[in-house]
Amino acid sequence: QNLPGKTAFVTGGASGIGLGIAKALLGAGMNVVVADIRQDHLDAARAELDGGDRVLALQLDVTDRAAFAAAADAAEARFGAIHILCNNAGVAVVGPTDLATFADWDWVMGVNVGGTINGIVTILPRMLAHGEGGHIVNTASMSALVPAPGTTIYSSGKAAVTSMMECMRPELESRGVICSAFCPGAVQSNIAEAGRTRPADLAETGYAEADKGRQAGGSLFHLYQTKEEVGERVLAGILNDELYILTHAEFLVGVRERGEATSAAVQVQLPENAEYKQTFGVLFRNSAI
Ligand code: NAI
Repeated sequence: QNLPGKTAFVTGGASGIGLGIAKALLGAGMNVVVADIRQDHLDAARAELDGGDRVLALQLDVTDRAAFAAAADAAEARFGAIHILCNNAGVAVVGPTDLATFADWDWVMGVNVGGTINGIVTILPRMLAHGEGGHIVNTASMSALVPAPGTTIYSSGKAAVTSMMECMRPELESRGVICSAFCPGAVQSNIAEAGRTRPADLAETGYAEADKGRQAGGSLFHLYQTKEEVGERVLAGILNDELYILTHAEFLVGVRERGEATSAAVQVQLPENAEYKQTFGVLFRNSAI
């Protein structure tokens, strides 16, 4: 895409990774809508972002569909059209799966998966309608690709938003919209504070103690990548039309092992049925036929 003068809409764009993405896209000459549930984050982001009137900061809870449509309207009213959608807003709660309450599942899935769905349903038709080309980037996580015990809720939601991009990419490419799954490892951010935006009706958690520990902050924080590093990586991924935008080299073996394990589990021989072979063998490109 030719980015200067075009518009990006970044959810959760006022902190951490989203702010890093917003910075990089502004640096590339885009208009950037930073949409975030936290007003304090929006105020801080406005001060940190050096984009003048190319920045529009909007308060938005991505789980609120009517508000999402209103935010998209506001973005279009200001900048004309949305060309890049970064579904990045996310929250996390981690711990043993047996301690998870329905509220833990509903909260994390509601924001991380539901918020992404709301972004796609709200903005994809607008992108296709303006016909100037578009790009959707779902912020997933390396945990979508490499299993991390104790992160069932978070990781299964991230696998869902990765799968959305994998399915949508071949579907939409010919219509001018490119889809990318951004799967970072650990990044310096405020995600340990995510509990602050947890709605009162989903407050009952099975992880009260575990969460306290998380919020105390990790001693390895200084080793995490910075929001600027990953923001630039996302920009490069957009410019290169990458399906998987990956950042952290230490996961190479884990990614490879998963690919090898799933490949090894596939039955090599197709059933001895000519119609089956011709239909599914060709459709799914099994070279064994
Ligand atoms: P962050 O907490 O610094 O930024 C997330 C932003 O999303 C915050 O400003 C928060 O107010 C906003 N937000 C939360 N709920 C929202 C809602 N309902 N509607 C609108 N905005 C909402 O955290 P971080 O780490 O930058 O997270 C961004 C994304 O990156 C998330 O999807 C997260 O799961 C993902 N991620 C983070 C990693 C990390 O190590 N920090 C690693 C892999 C993925």
